[in-house]
Amino acid sequence: MPQVTYIQFDGSKQTVDVPVGENVMRGALYNGIDGIAGECGGAPSCATCHCYVDDAWTAKVGGPDGDVEAELLEAAAAEIKATSRLSCQIVMSEALDGLVVHLPETQY
Ligand code: FES
Repeated sequence: MPQVTYIQFDGSKQTVDVPVGENVMRGALYNGIDGIAGECGGAPSCATCHCYVDDAWTAKVGGPDGDVEAELLEAAAAEIKATSRLSCQIVMSEALDGLVVHLPETQY
C-alpha cells in the first residue's frame, strides 16, 4: 500500500499507509494526524485540508485540479504557495507511494 508522509508545521512527521483511490485528506484523518481538518469531507468547499506538496513531488502531483480548487485555495487560512493543494483533491495511486506533504500552521 502506498505511503504518505505528513510533516507538521513544527517539523514533526508521520508516515502512514493510504490506500490507492483514497485521498490525502482522509489519509490524515483516518490516521489521527493533526493539521488537516477536512471539514467539508472533500466536497470540496472548505479549504481546511490545505497542504503544501513537497518540492520533490510537485511534478508528479501537479497543480490545482481545476478552477474550483484554485479558487478555494485562495480562501485557505495560511499562506498560499506555488505548491499549495487541497489534500482532498490528491488521490493516491501507486505512483504517489512515498508522497510527502507539509501542513500549514493553521487551517482556520
Ligand atoms: S476537505 Fe474541504 S476542501 Fe478539502
